[in-house]
Amino acid sequence: MTKQDDMVIALSKGRILDDTLPLLAKAGIEPLEDVRSSRKLIFPTNQPNLSLIVIRATDVPTYVERGVAHLGIAGKDVLMEHGAKDIYELLDLRIARCRLMTAGIKGVPRVKGRVRVASKFTSIARSYFAERGKQVDIIKLYGGMELAPLLGLADEIVDIVDTGKTLTANGLEPRELIADISSRLIVSRAAYKRNQQQIDPIVEKLAAAMAQLEV
Ligand code: ATP
Ligand code: PRP
Repeated sequence: MTKQDDMVIALSKGRILDDTLPLLAKAGIEPLEDVRSSRKLIFPTNQPNLSLIVIRATDVPTYVERGVAHLGIAGKDVLMEHGAKDIYELLDLRIARCRLMTAGIKGVPRVKGRVRVASKFTSIARSYFAERGKQVDIIKLYGGMELAPLLGLADEIVDIVDTGKTLTANGLEPRELIADISSRLIVSRAAYKRNQQQIDPIVEKLAAAMAQLEV
């Protein structure tokens, strides 16, 4: 349990965590035990009244939006897909940088009519193609999207591209850039109003830590 007056920062599990923990440490915020080797989900820190929760990336906007976590760190991809309306982005942390792109089988031109698009980013994919007047069937997958065109499940995918190695290894090619992605520090409108005095110093420390890490 967190104490009633504790501030809570929601962190995304997975790859963002590897970039997030060093940034928090630089900002003077360190969990009291090793987050990666523990099965716990709530971690008190060396800062009085500040705890971290470590949850699935896609759940971070929900905890923040509903005011259970005061702050959160999540990828722009997750925020775009969630469509969080009452969430402010306080900082672009410039970590876990990658691109959200369409991709298809190398050398195969886009199909003329209705395009079958596989993605875990179904909402982003739907809007992206709709804005371009393209008819699509969206197929929801939860991972390994690259497999879909190879097995004929989809014509294209919408997925994260970083080095491009996963696409290349599977005979796919990147096509259109949908958005440049990085992780953001987020807060809900309501939590910011209520807790601005506690939140502002944390934001300042993180901004200073980013500047130090980038030197
Ligand atoms: P979940 O398990 O909840 O589906 P996930 O598998 O999307 O989450 P990760 O793959 O760890 O979780 O990605 C978390 C975030 O890291 C993404 O939302 C994105 O912002 C960023 N990210 C994902 N893949 C890469 C990558 N290859 N390079 C850099 N950043 C990435
Ligand atoms: C992500 C993404 C791509 C890959 C891109 O997958 O979904 O598959 O990284 O990175 P690259 O361009 O450097 O190859 P992840 O490894 O997180 O696994 P997932 O498919 O389970 O999300």
